[in-house]
Amino acid sequence: MTAKGLFIVIEGIDGSGKTTQIENLKAYFQKKGAEAIVTREPGGTKIGEKIREILLNPDNKEMDPIAEMLLYAASRAQHVKELIEKNLKEGKHVICDRFVLSSYVYQGFARGIDLEAVKKVNEIAMQGVVPDIIFFINISDEESFKRRMGRSYCDRIENEEKEFHINVCKGYRKLAKDMENAVWIDGMKSVDEVAKDMIAYIEKKLYDIAIVGTQNK
Ligand code: TYD
Repeated sequence: MTAKGLFIVIEGIDGSGKTTQIENLKAYFQKKGAEAIVTREPGGTKIGEKIREILLNPDNKEMDPIAEMLLYAASRAQHVKELIEKNLKEGKHVICDRFVLSSYVYQGFARGIDLEAVKKVNEIAMQGVVPDIIFFINISDEESFKRRMGRSYCDRIENEEKEFHINVCKGYRKLAKDMENAVWIDGMKSVDEVAKDMIAYIEKKLYDIAIVGTQNK
């Protein structure tokens, strides 16, 4: 039987360099000869990408926070069933740009929806599929604002007031502390150093899994 692949989630404040690091991780697995799928939330499936369009379209200003939370969860449920679970079972690694921690932070902490309610809804959406590693790339608020400045297009969430984004930063730092399997990564380091830190952690995880595997034989 093929060993289950690793489910790796990358989380971080806007401008934390997630995209670059996801590319680095993909290249790392490729070099090892291991298959890794890169995907994202909201989105990742045909239905999920349609939901993404509704969620991020700047014209949808009137969106109710509860509707927003449920749409993110709906995209996630489809993603888990159609793509994540299937690929993990086939032994492929799945690298996902954002997952439930984003909902806890954005919909729970920043929008102010009761965190327990957000957790309950997302428990239904996750259908038992839990990340093996959640990398939280932490950068300072100032760095985040600096890196986001000068963008020509802003989606519905990026268009939010400064206070919302400050709360997102605070929320990440508070909630990533209690999150199971969350690993803090210092995003203020150079791109290469950040990649090294993440890969070192993955190697350790793969080693631990291999050890447990031999012990169970
Ligand atoms: P995206 O362009 O993927 O953001 P980024 O490039 O910053 O990663 O847009 C996703 C947006 O949706 C982002 O602002 C975070 C937000 N979001 C939530 O509010 N809740 C969620 O559950 C997820 C997955 C994302």
